Amino acid sequence: MKFKGYAYINTIGCQMNVYDSEKLALILNYNGYRQTRDMDQADIVICNTCSIRHKAEEKAFSFLGRFARIKKKKPDIIIVMAGCVAQQEGKKAFKRVHHLDIVLGTQAFSRFGKHIDAVKAGKNRIVDIEDSEKLYEIMPAVLESDAAESTILEHGTLNFKENKISRFVTIMQGCENFCTYCVVPYVRGKERSRNPESIIKEISLLAKSGVKEINLLGQNVNSYGQLEGQISFAELLVQVSKIRGIQRIRFATSHPKDLSMDLIHAIRDLDKVCNHLHLPVQSGSDKILKKMNRGYSRQTYIKRIFDLKKQCPEIGVSTDIIVGFPSETRDDFSETMDLLREIKFDSIFAFAYSNRSSAPASKFSHQVDEKEKLDRLNKLLELQEHYTKQKNLELIGKTLEILVEGQSVRKHNGFKKNHKNMEQMTGRSACNKIVHFPSESAKIGDLIKIQIKNAYPHSLWGYPAGALN
Ligand code: SAH
Ligand code: SF4
Ligand code: F3S
Repeated sequence: MKFKGYAYINTIGCQMNVYDSEKLALILNYNGYRQTRDMDQADIVICNTCSIRHKAEEKAFSFLGRFARIKKKKPDIIIVMAGCVAQQEGKKAFKRVHHLDIVLGTQAFSRFGKHIDAVKAGKNRIVDIEDSEKLYEIMPAVLESDAAESTILEHGTLNFKENKISRFVTIMQGCENFCTYCVVPYVRGKERSRNPESIIKEISLLAKSGVKEINLLGQNVNSYGQLEGQISFAELLVQVSKIRGIQRIRFATSHPKDLSMDLIHAIRDLDKVCNHLHLPVQSGSDKILKKMNRGYSRQTYIKRIFDLKKQCPEIGVSTDIIVGFPSETRDDFSETMDLLREIKFDSIFAFAYSNRSSAPASKFSHQVDEKEKLDRLNKLLELQEHYTKQKNLELIGKTLEILVEGQSVRKHNGFKKNHKNMEQMTGRSACNKIVHFPSESAKIGDLIKIQIKNAYPHSLWGYPAGALN
């Protein structure tokens, strides 16, 4: 394809958006546009947006808003709002961002090339928030083109992130759980799983390009393939495990209501599947869980974690929590604090409830005061800080296998004299801890055994096992 210009992509939001932006870059490449890191050089500017919380949405509007002035100086520049806010707002997006050229919904990416051509031919204000039967299945056409395949092999899907050994692969789209606070079912549509062949093909290509770790993505990976009558998620893990070159497999997110024994066994039995589970609980109060429409009780959640730890004693467990959901009292919040004490998560992501007008909870009574939400959030984070550190301290003296990701950004002074002048490297353990260590020979992508010597709240450090102590 003839070179037509440069595209700049700004990605906001979850891992799925990071993946989508990589695909967008491939589609652009297929259509003659090369990705640039330099915004000033761009002929097309795309913001891949997120609407999960108010703040994320505002970030998108403020980024795109900046181009009003630039568009005056450079009228041919094409400005695009893509992703979840685009899907949610449709043509309303033009009210706040007059100078937008294309509003590209979450399922419209495969039609992007056509829309760019239309803008160039003089059409303005294009909105495409239509569904698409085909998920990433448009990708084979793109993937099978020589240009794309060589781009993947060379750059690991055109992503500018330095770390080329770990990649996201979305295996399913959409969600039909309808948690009452959440926009995802409205902006990502029905749950649809990709066919396993296309997933395996993509991961095999990534493996050939040197990728060592795959992170399989979906809003509820445990229900992978169920609606389509395809292989189950546990079976998909078996297949991905067989791909040569892939050394580690991670996945997110699992929904507690669907956490099956099959999956627990897959984590236990498949060597490449990492010993880590992200299992969002959202609240420790049964009353709130019910109002959230989560489909499990506090007790069921605790039991599932108990079953999991029984089968996989070394597993790292993380979770998501929302504080200040409508009608959450201080007692409800105390139950969430108690759950943290009871489970002792390795880490948590905690959020103050954000009112989303498309989600049902926005109409619920007894919305919690913003200040109170922040207060609860801080209390929760403070409590968790203690457990995160405690969990890390428990690892001192143990030997963990680390996938080397690169050089440490920060140097630690604590290393022994004869290690001080060595390169300080960083990587992750299977249980998802960041580990720093000195090494003369470790290269990015190596799996290396590190004996843990010390623990910080958010990282560990140690020495290659067998090295001088
Ligand atoms: N599918 C995943 C979550 C996707 S969204 C799951 O079911 O767990 C990621 C996280 O954002 C959620 O787990 C939730 O904790 C948080 N979140 C979603 N909607 C929110 C809202 N309206 N306000 C605050 N946090 C929210
Ligand atoms: Fe949102 Fe619930 Fe679906 Fe997760 S399971 S994406 S929180 S609706
Ligand atoms: Fe945000 Fe859309 Fe992901 S709303 S969290 S980018 S699915």
